[in-house]
Order: sequence, then C-alpha cells, then structure tokens
Amino acid sequence: MPNDASIKIDGKEYPYPVMIGSEGEKAIDVRNLRKDSGHIFYDQGYGNTGSCESQVTFLDGDNGILRHRGYPIDQLAKHSDYIETAYLVIYGELPTEAQRKKFGDLLRENAHIEPQMQRLFEGYPKNTPPMVVLASLVASLAGYYPDLATNNFEKDLQQFDLSAAMAISKIRTLGAMVYRHGRGLPFMHPKALPFCDNFLHLMFSEPYHDYVAIPEVTSALNLILLMHADHEQNCSTSTVRMVGSSGANLFTSLAAGIGALSGPLHGGANTAVMNMLQSIHDENDDGTRFIEAAKGGSKSNRLMGFGHAVYRNFDPRARVIGEACSVVLKKLGKSDPLLDIAQNLEQAALKDDYFVSRKLYPNVDFYSGIIFRALGIPTNMFTVMFAIGRAPGWIANWKEVASNPKGRIYRPRQVYTGPVKRDYVPMARRG
Ligand code: ACO
Repeated sequence: MPNDASIKIDGKEYPYPVMIGSEGEKAIDVRNLRKDSGHIFYDQGYGNTGSCESQVTFLDGDNGILRHRGYPIDQLAKHSDYIETAYLVIYGELPTEAQRKKFGDLLRENAHIEPQMQRLFEGYPKNTPPMVVLASLVASLAGYYPDLATNNFEKDLQQFDLSAAMAISKIRTLGAMVYRHGRGLPFMHPKALPFCDNFLHLMFSEPYHDYVAIPEVTSALNLILLMHADHEQNCSTSTVRMVGSSGANLFTSLAAGIGALSGPLHGGANTAVMNMLQSIHDENDDGTRFIEAAKGGSKSNRLMGFGHAVYRNFDPRARVIGEACSVVLKKLGKSDPLLDIAQNLEQAALKDDYFVSRKLYPNVDFYSGIIFRALGIPTNMFTVMFAIGRAPGWIANWKEVASNPKGRIYRPRQVYTGPVKRDYVPMARRG
C-alpha cells in the first residue's frame, strides 16, 4: 500500500496509506493516528468512517448502484429469488443445484419453533410491538440451541451452515407467529413448502382452512424480501457486526440488529410512508397540497419515502419495487387509492426543483408498503417483514467478523465534553 496521504497537525505531517477497494473506493488507513499524534478523528454518526473491509455488498449512492457479491440488484430481481440471493449474500457465490437443494432442505428442516419456546409468547401482551417480541424471541434461540451459540467463534463457525439456515428459517416462522399472537390466533405448524409459501401459510392458514397459494402473491413476497437482503453498513448491520465483534454468537447478534432496525429512522420508514399516504387520502388531497407543504423544510412534513442518507440518485430498489407494485396490484385485480396518490407524488416530486436540486428520489420504502398491504400484511408488521428480508445480510456480516483472524472488538473513541475532575460532595452539602 503506498504512503500517499498525510495529515498535518500542529505543523507535523503524519503519513498514512491509502486503501483502494475493488470498485475504486478510496480510504485513508488512519488506524495509527492516535498512537502517532494523540488525536482521533471526530465523525459523529460514522458517516465518513469505514468501519471494516467487506466483500458482501457494493453500494454507490451517487450513481444509484447496489450489487451483492458483484451481481447488480436489478439482475437478481429479474433472475433470482430470495433464497438463492440469501445463499449468494451469505456464501459469496450463486449456489449449484446441489448446494441450493441442501440449503433449501436445511431451511425446511429448521422451520419449527420448539413447543417450550412457543410458550414464551404467552408472557407478552397482545399489543406488544411486533419488533419487541421478535427481538427477544430471536435472542432466546441462543438458549434453545446452546451448541450453536457458544460465544466461541471457532466452535460457532463449525456449525455455521446449520445456524445460518436456522436463523433465516426461524426468523420467518417467528415473524408469522408474532402476527398471529397479536391477533389471538392459534399458531400454525410449518409445512414442507417453499420458503415464501410457507410464510404465507404460517400467516394466513387456519386450523380448518389451508391458505391457498397465489403465485403472484408468492412472487411479490419473494421480490420484496430479495430487495431487502442486504444494504452495506447500515445501522442494523453495523450493530450486528459490533455485537458480533465481542465474540457474541449469531443469534444474540441478530437480536441486537433487530433492535436497531425497529427504530423509525431505519426500519420504520415504510410504515411512515403508509401513514402519510393514508392521511393525504383522508384529507381528499391527490398529493398536490402535501408536496407544497413538504417543501417548507419542516421535518414533520417531509415527503416520507423520499431521500436517503446514502443515495443521491434513484434508489435502484425503489425502481424495481415501484414497477412491481403496479404489476402486482393489477395481477391481483386490486386497486389501491394510495398507489394512485404515491404515483402522483412521485411524478410531481421528480419534476419539482425543490426535490431535483436536493437530489431527493424515491427510496425502497416508498412503494414497499403498498405491496405489503396488497398481500394482506398489516402496517404494524412491515418492519418485521424488513427483518425477515435482511437476515441474510446480517448473517453474512456476522460471518465476516467471526471468521476474520485479524479482527478486533469494535470500540470507537469519543470526544469527552462533560465536567472536568471535581471532588465528591456529601449529601448534606448538596443543593
Ligand atoms: N422531504 C422534503 N425535504 C427533504 C426530504 C424529504 N423526504 N429529505 C430531505 N429533505 C430536504 C431537507 O429538508 C434538506 O433541505 P435544506 O437543504 O433546505 O435544509 C435537504 O433535503 C437535505 O436533507 P438532509 O436531512 O441533509 O438529508 P439526509 O441525507 O440527512 O437525510 C433522510 C436522509 C433521513 C432519509 C431524509 O431524506 C428523510 O427524512 N427522508 C424521509 C424519511 C425516509 O423515507 N426514510 C427512509 C430512508 S430509507 C431506509 O432507511 C431503508
């Protein structure tokens, strides 16, 4: 690595190597800066910090590019399915037929939730937020499968194929159980069905009536899960890596990622989009009045589903999901006034100088909620759907941390701005 960057502090220059990623991304390797100079970099929210090297996903926000293991997201959307893409994200290559079959078998064999573990649901009130229940149940997997969750990377990695498949399959099953628990419905047992059909069965079958698969619904679900499979070092993925870096097992690390995803600034945005579209509809607006209000600069009036912390161009996932949305509704013979409003908003915003000059384009959440709604999935389950889709990305990133022989615990520094040293004051002399 050439020493071709230097940092000048108090007149003294410190040389540092420049790293170049496989897609030409440049970074200055400042790992020794504090040791050399006594300074750290201040980068609140890590927006300009590369926390790791990763081979999973490449994202170029300026040009609207997203690739998993080199494969463009639009090609995966067109030719692959969620499970194949999950395999690709986790293992780095598209599976052969035999690998795909083995992976599918492992997913099917590990879809169930132990009867004893099912009883944990009884402790949660029905109105508990779905992500709260999901996070705690996923953390509990470490207790039910202690051989796979030893907090010893070497041992955990020996069983990685099983624990990865188990995590993907059980997060899906738990997601459906969270839905049924919230409605007071009996849990359904998984069947020997393809992954997405099994999810729909677990959600919508009744003891007296099997859910009948609708191919258009299955393929829409497949597409939307695939679209969420990974997205570089976002908040929840970085959380999984950080927790994993302490040596924590896969299930515990995933539970932490689910907690991070539950926040409205991360996984909750598609819910906010639906609430916005519904209120525009309730106010008999076609979107025109709302667009004007959204340009006022107030955070509470933002056009939800527009703009992105990283993309300064079309989110490539939004393009695919936006197109799929109209197709799915048409195939299902459904119309949704909220889709008309969303399309009006998109057209208006893409022509409006306020949004164009700020490079605000639709993001993945702008249309995903409308598809979920068409599939019969209620708004409070949207973030759970995101978690089911994102599991492969979290798992792949945990594996990178666990299998890195040179890895070290993630431990950022801070700039302390609290009180300087002072002496303890006894209670009688306070106030
Ligand atoms: N509607 C109206 N104006 C907006 C919007 C929006 N959705 N997003 C940004 N702006 C404006 C800001 O007011 C600011 O204007 P100014 O320059 O006049 O002050 C300018 O655009 C830049 O905004 P920032 O806040 O700097 O953009 P940032 O990149 O930090 O924020 C974010 C990105 C949080 C996603 C923002 O665009 C937003 O709030 N969007 C709506 C919420 C949303 O859809 N979130 C989902 C993101 S995708 C995901 O997490 C999976």
